[in-house]
Amino acid sequence: MINIAVFASGTGSNFKNLINRKDINANFSLLVCDKKKANVINIANKNNIKTFVFSPKDYQNKEDYENHIIEELEKNNIDLIVLAGYMRILSKKFVKKYENKIINIHPSYLPYYKGAKAITDAYEDGKNIFGVTVHYVNEEVDGGKIIIQEKLENTENLSIEEITEKIHNLEYKLYPYAIKMLLN
Ligand code: GRF
Repeated sequence: MINIAVFASGTGSNFKNLINRKDINANFSLLVCDKKKANVINIANKNNIKTFVFSPKDYQNKEDYENHIIEELEKNNIDLIVLAGYMRILSKKFVKKYENKIINIHPSYLPYYKGAKAITDAYEDGKNIFGVTVHYVNEEVDGGKIIIQEKLENTENLSIEEITEKIHNLEYKLYPYAIKMLLN
């Protein structure tokens, strides 16, 4: 069976959703997390999923901590890397090594609103373009080939909190779907 590593930095609601799906034919073998206090670590612990937690400041540079990540991935025979709210940019070298084996979920209808504040940016822009995109990761942030995406329209004049909730719910539907598609 395919071994998946999820990379996450925060709450971990996508991580939780993915590991609870019974219809994904893969092992969620490892959580990689760059924040020692992130909630996502509690979710992994409760579900007996191995974690590799590191602090970038304990390393001399990005290459050093990424080498450590690679060691852990190799130890755990990881086949696919799933980014779910991982708030660091992977180096070109790392991305090249795992070409077509890293996917990400982004809370916008790409190529609209790349970057860390996608939902706020979309809301403030007022063009009513919301959505979720699952894509391969290449060296350009939020720029890799799109695997699947869905648009959301704010027809009911929802507040930013309400539209954010809708976007997250769409994520919980699209990410498992995309992963299943790739596994097939
Ligand atoms: C999600 O909105 C995802 O699209 C983005 O980061 C957020 C992570 O949320 N890349 P969570 O930690 O899964 O709750």
